[in-house]
Amino acid sequence: MKDIRNIVILTGAGISAESGVATFRGPDGLWEGHRVEDVATPEAFFRDPALVQKFYDERRAKLRTVHPNAAHQALAKLDAAWPGDLLLVTQNVDDLHDRAGSKHLLHMHGELNSAWCLACDARSPFDGVMATEPPCPQCGQPGCLRPDIVWFGEMPYQMERIEQALARCDLFVSIGTSGAVYPAAGFVQTARHYGARTLEMNLDPSEGSFHFHESRMGRAGELVPDWVEEILQNV
Ligand code: APR
Repeated sequence: MKDIRNIVILTGAGISAESGVATFRGPDGLWEGHRVEDVATPEAFFRDPALVQKFYDERRAKLRTVHPNAAHQALAKLDAAWPGDLLLVTQNVDDLHDRAGSKHLLHMHGELNSAWCLACDARSPFDGVMATEPPCPQCGQPGCLRPDIVWFGEMPYQMERIEQALARCDLFVSIGTSGAVYPAAGFVQTARHYGARTLEMNLDPSEGSFHFHESRMGRAGELVPDWVEEILQNV
């Protein structure tokens, strides 16, 4: 591990599963009873905004009942102790990495606790209910807020910063993601292209599992703390 200085970590829904947050691609193919295209596309929002707002209002309310688990905490510990560059890129819209204390963190698919005003384009912290069409905290216009979530067909956030970090990293680690959704699913290939070592930790092999130098299969709550102890040993 001595030659590792810069690390990029990608997390997906699997890291929050042991906290009680539902993953996207359950065995029934549904996300909390809905087809993804009925709640997670701009078309769905245009067609039935009330359904989409209710869906995300419920997910946002659920956040108040869940807590970071050992995997989130271990990554926060690594973030605080690591002497090189570390960037944690999460696909998750929950705030469990934030609450665990990770600082070098980027939410590439947006956040449940953020509102995007379609009238003034501002993003504001938001932990309430959108279905009741509250005014934008910044411009005051009612009925213009949408969840600040990157839906299918929309551009993930901060791709340039992510690409730069991938090009400079010595180690790329993917945790709890099925590898079904691009561009995140392609990060392993980008990191390898620039010479990084790559490690996957997941309950079962992801779609791109064969791209990784090493795969560890199991629960994130067990695998991640063990890996963090291992990598911090040589610091
Ligand atoms: N520990 C580790 N991995 C787990 C655990 C666990 N306790 N529980 C489940 N997993 C794994 C599953 O085996 C699966 O491979 O986590 C993965 C979760 O995959 P998805 O549900 O597809 O979630 P994710 O990869 O984050 O989805 C990516 O898809 O719908 C979009 O924008 C949404 O960010 C999301 C993106």
